[in-house]
Amino acid sequence: MFPFWEKVVAPILEAAEVKRLVEIGALRGENTRQILDTVGPEAELHVIDPVPDFDPDEHAREFGGQYIFHRDLSLNVLGNLEVMDAALIDGDHNWYTVFNECRLLAEVSAAADALLPVMVFHDVAWPYGRRDLYYNPDDIPEEFRQPWAKRGMLPEVVDLVDEHGLNPTMCNALREGGPRNGVMTAVDDFVAGHPKALRVLVLPIYFGLAIVVEEDRLARQPKLASFLDWLESVEGKTMLLELAESMRIQAMLFQHRIYFQNEGELERLARRYMDALKRELVAELPEPGRPSLNGLHDALETMRADHIRGHVVVSGVAGGAAAAMARAHFDAYKEHGRHVFVADRFSTVDIEGVKRNLTHVGVLDGRVHLLAGDPASTLADPQVDRVAVLHVGPRTGEDVAAVLEAVHSRLAPGSVVVVDRAADSAVRAAIDAYRATHSVTASESAAGEAGTTWRNP
Ligand SMILES: C[S@@+](CC[C@H](N)C(=O)[O-])C[C@H]1O[C@@H](n2cnc3c(N)ncnc32)[C@H](O)[C@@H]1O
Repeated sequence: MFPFWEKVVAPILEAAEVKRLVEIGALRGENTRQILDTVGPEAELHVIDPVPDFDPDEHAREFGGQYIFHRDLSLNVLGNLEVMDAALIDGDHNWYTVFNECRLLAEVSAAADALLPVMVFHDVAWPYGRRDLYYNPDDIPEEFRQPWAKRGMLPEVVDLVDEHGLNPTMCNALREGGPRNGVMTAVDDFVAGHPKALRVLVLPIYFGLAIVVEEDRLARQPKLASFLDWLESVEGKTMLLELAESMRIQAMLFQHRIYFQNEGELERLARRYMDALKRELVAELPEPGRPSLNGLHDALETMRADHIRGHVVVSGVAGGAAAAMARAHFDAYKEHGRHVFVADRFSTVDIEGVKRNLTHVGVLDGRVHLLAGDPASTLADPQVDRVAVLHVGPRTGEDVAAVLEAVHSRLAPGSVVVVDRAADSAVRAAIDAYRATHSVTASESAAGEAGTTWRNP
């Protein structure tokens, strides 16, 4: 109800010249100061909440006799209060509670021959307009309690859902709709049974707010009648649209704060995982022949940061460390759709040993392809349709030349090429020949301990 305060609830309380009111369901007590500021120093505010999320004694000290807190269920309190001018009803959102809150407020007024309080109800639209919620199901007599479960809700879905629903930890009625189910149904039933004419307004934003006022009161309080007329006018509806939009933006900002906080946390965890994996691979996989993992790691980071589309090709695999790094990177940063192609003759390297190593670090699956044989032919595999990172591990100059040539036509724009042991004269010659043949002018820079790297334009 809180977001309706300034534009809707406060003007109603002012127009109705409210001097005594009750707030049912206070949660964090955010409304208290606003209510007291609105109704003025002579007014009396009763707040009812069995489990407030604030210290009511602090409010009692601050606001003196103006403020009376009742730590109880509304239905245990309302019948014993004096006649109220207004009631803000936002406690337990179920038919039994709301209907009986209305009944008690009406009985107290009728006994004193007074007007019914102005009643403002929150949560009269989805999800609790036509579906009960129970803060504590045991508080509701069994015959008035719907079957319920702690499962979520979706709009226009009558039954509760197992996934992605709203409020999955609350005690929600199993089904939406039908008799004696939901806050709006309680309001409808009360209005239908009330002996005097009532005016009912429903504002269908932010879970719905209903305002119920006796016509007799409106006849006596024309300012209140005009404010309700204004709420129903085009200007009033425009105000509601603006209010709904500002609430939507606030909700989005809140969501973004959480999302980006989580993103930062995920990023930290991903980096930690990659660093730990690299340390494990360096410690466990045998020199010589282990490729430089730092150069590859930088290339993978570039691929991710610049959203370069395509797969990763690693060649000269030794124990499979480069393949493991690439595959792990996909998981760490949720890079769906990328695959690792491992091109090697597997003549000096045992393919089963590579599989064991990949399994050991938990990354051998359908997104890792071991292409055994001459890279010139295995890399012609049509699955290797677009390459974002090519990492050539320690190899002979001849093999370096073959791999660069085989992948060249499928290197994506912005892709990164890393060649290890570039100081080796045969490797250097192969790189220079390839770059000259294909007019690669992108400048080279050092990669890892002894490699070179460049990016395609
Ligand atoms: C939706 S929150 C109230 C939000 C508050 N009115 C606002 O606008 O910020 C519902 C509150 O109702 C309280 N509540 C639950 N059952 C109640 C009952 N039977 N009587 C009074 N309050 C109840 C809960 O403890 C909770 O603090």
